[in-house]
Amino acid sequence: MPEISFWGHACFLISEEGKETLIFDPFISDNPLAPVKVGEAYADYILLSHAHWDHLGDAYEIAKQHGATIISTSEIAKKAASDGLNAHAQHLGGRSYHPFGSVKLTLAFHGAGIEGGHACGFIVDYYGNKIYFAGDTGLFSDMKLIGELDSLDVALLPIGDNFTMGVDDAVIAASFLQAKVVIPYHYNTWPLIETDPELFKQKVEAKTDSRCVILPPGSGYNL
Ligand code: NI
Ligand code: MN
Repeated sequence: MPEISFWGHACFLISEEGKETLIFDPFISDNPLAPVKVGEAYADYILLSHAHWDHLGDAYEIAKQHGATIISTSEIAKKAASDGLNAHAQHLGGRSYHPFGSVKLTLAFHGAGIEGGHACGFIVDYYGNKIYFAGDTGLFSDMKLIGELDSLDVALLPIGDNFTMGVDDAVIAASFLQAKVVIPYHYNTWPLIETDPELFKQKVEAKTDSRCVILPPGSGYNL
């Protein structure tokens, strides 16, 4: 059974026994919520939503150590390739195919953290399970389209405010996406993004048909 593990901030893993491991935004060594040391992190693919330090994190270290492939927007992937890492470049709206399934890049309204680049979100098909990771983003109404085009099993949404959507906007995002399960992230890493995930859960479950699962860092959700 595939599992989504949360390592705090915006770092998630998708894995299944004997299958490829995907890590999203592997911010580990400077992440006060990280339940592991960077040397314990294994991944075959590293999905980078953008290159801000709290997302790029330890991507290079993990890519070097395990030969993992960085999947990101063209500017970030090309920089990684020119730095000697395995990288797969794609861009907003495009889907790529891999042994585990596919990765589509979505819009995200946020800085890229690299000159001339874009931030993105991801829709991952992992052995038939559809997971949307919004990246760092504000609310945008085209999330409706994401919910219409792909029937989502899980939507991962930032809720911490200041840099991304806060609780109320993320509840609207959840109503647009209509995923079976919503999991919040990008909160309580630092005082600036202190947020009550229970309040988010209450509102999501009152206003949408989605179930909200709060993952304490180090815990996981079985798909
Ligand atoms: Ni950011
Ligand atoms: Mn961030």
